[in-house]
Amino acid sequence: LGTLMRQKLVDFWRQLFVLDNDNIFEINGSLLLPESVFKASGHLDSFEDPLIQCKSCKSMYRADHIIAQNTGISAEGLSLEELDKIVEENKIVCPSCKGELDKARQFNLMFSTGIGPVSGNKGYLRPETAQNIFVNFKRYASFMRNKLPFGIAQVGKSFRNEISPRNFLIRVREFEQMEIELFFDPEMANKFSLFDFVEDVEINIVTKGMQEKEWSKPLSMSVKDAVEKEIIPNQVMGYFIAMESEMLQALGIPKESFWFRYMLPHETPHYSGGNLDLEVKLSIGNVEIIGNAYRTDYDLKKHEKASKSTFTIVSNNKKVLPHVVEPSMGVGRILYTILEYCYREDESRTWSWFKFPASIAPIEIAVFPLMKKDGLAEYAQDLHLDLKDAGFVSFYDDSGKIGKRYARADEIGILYCITVDYESLEKDTVTIRDRDSTKQARVPIEDLEDVLDALLEEELTFEELLENQKNN
Ligand code: GAP
Repeated sequence: LGTLMRQKLVDFWRQLFVLDNDNIFEINGSLLLPESVFKASGHLDSFEDPLIQCKSCKSMYRADHIIAQNTGISAEGLSLEELDKIVEENKIVCPSCKGELDKARQFNLMFSTGIGPVSGNKGYLRPETAQNIFVNFKRYASFMRNKLPFGIAQVGKSFRNEISPRNFLIRVREFEQMEIELFFDPEMANKFSLFDFVEDVEINIVTKGMQEKEWSKPLSMSVKDAVEKEIIPNQVMGYFIAMESEMLQALGIPKESFWFRYMLPHETPHYSGGNLDLEVKLSIGNVEIIGNAYRTDYDLKKHEKASKSTFTIVSNNKKVLPHVVEPSMGVGRILYTILEYCYREDESRTWSWFKFPASIAPIEIAVFPLMKKDGLAEYAQDLHLDLKDAGFVSFYDDSGKIGKRYARADEIGILYCITVDYESLEKDTVTIRDRDSTKQARVPIEDLEDVLDALLEEELTFEELLENQKNN
């Protein structure tokens, strides 16, 4: 079920960001890359987290995490000296043995290995999907006939040797990212044609200024206003931010639960032209699930220098070294968020259930015979196969009482259960049970596919279906 959901999420993202756009194409790059790539990108020198070790039991912790747990201070991005000072001032000790903590030191998060039989040929598992795209930039630019703007998308595994993995899918050492590098002429950053389609989308945002004081509620404003007020660095990022906000809501995550926070200088690399993380309120605290970075021309410049070649192209009769905006989404973190926000426990049923929208539900419909006997099972089996042929993700279940089967379907978020009963044999009609209201409607078999399509596409509500039946 998790795999089906993951596939649906990736398909949803691909449709929205890649297939619906004429200028964004997807690649599938290598997971393992030579050392020279990460020397050039800067990861070898600075892709690190602060590590702190207990002098007695030798347990290791991420210094900023242990500080946040003990004091509530957000210490991400602080220097080693600053971290040591906070640990000392707050008398923070080892959580497992209460021993004294050593000084913090930096720990590089990349997994290294040897490439090929020759010793000394070092390589690394990629810590983000992005670097494949930068090193191959010239090839993609030529494929796009050097016409800016264009985007290269990629879905795949990234690897980080996290000091303390935790919280199920939230912090793991092997995770999937859905990333896009959108290359554009910096002089056209506020003339991005796709922006026109989304400029009125209202988003929740936490500005730099708000973070100077205690903030309790994000601001709501249109992306157009946010770009004009320079809260969002440019229209290119504004486009992605608006689309992300719409995407999460379509996946069942309520708008009031997430916001875009402007990253403070100590949280962003020096080259950043402005980063806005999408943060969501979860039971474990506020978590970044999407990072939006204005990477400027930093990466292309670094790879240009290391490869001793030029990445400047002639686009629209002008020499340009493109700038980059990067929306980077964590597949696991988004799935985790969907699970939390779609989970339901209520008094109307004695079982818990998931209110997944059709866009993410691992299984959309189920077909049940009321009983196994008298030809009901055969009728239901045929119907299930017909529905599968018609493209529905259907599940067949004939074991146990019908109530139990409805409960099992609710537990995995199946939206509609179709039951074949004795009336089906006589009149070729079936009942559809709605997961959310638990109400049932009877429909003729010949209308079933159209009705299910309309319900799943949200062109028809279940209440409207019931109303139509009353009127007929
Ligand atoms: N290329 C930019 C980049 O990698 P990031 O903010 O480090 O930016 C982007 O990561 C997203 O990847 C995060 O918002 C998060 O969803 C996901 N991610 C990062 N580290 C992760 C980890 N250890 N476990 C699960 N997801 C992770």
